[in-house]
Amino acid sequence: MALERTLSIIKPDAVAKNVIGEIYARFEKAGLKVVAAKMKQLSRQEAEGFYAVHSARPFFKALVDFMISGPVMITALEGENAVLAHRDLMGATNPKEAAPGTIRADFADSIDANAVHGSDAVDTAKVEIAYFFAATDVLSR
Ligand code: PPS
Repeated sequence: MALERTLSIIKPDAVAKNVIGEIYARFEKAGLKVVAAKMKQLSRQEAEGFYAVHSARPFFKALVDFMISGPVMITALEGENAVLAHRDLMGATNPKEAAPGTIRADFADSIDANAVHGSDAVDTAKVEIAYFFAATDVLSR
């Protein structure tokens, strides 16, 4: 088992549904600890930079437009195998394919508005956490 960190974003659709607490409860019940958190209205430039790896994808503009459509809740989580544990909690990208009981199955409406983002690997998580948080803002506990 490895102690890892991952970046989680509760997207504008889930923030609008007022389910931040329900989603955080799932993280905590799974043994993941919040080590940094902030609510933020992303600028277009911030969202484009965050998703730069997808800039050539046909859905890029729709994804950026959605991510700046309202505030998001950005969280760094820490725990054993945090990257995979968080991805298991999220469920498949497309909520229609997400397993019952996952965050996307329960709270997401479509592949465009799919409630949560999670880092896909430990190295990606380091880059994504540093994108939003200074090292001194991430507090292991
Ligand atoms: S990949 O190839 O595995 O990296 O792609 P995937 O993880 O499926 O998707 C990358 C991010 O793009 C979002 N996405 C979409 N947004 C809007 N419309 C469509 N059709 C679409 N398909 C994928 C998807 O939710 C991923 O965003 P994050 O924030 O990483 O979950």
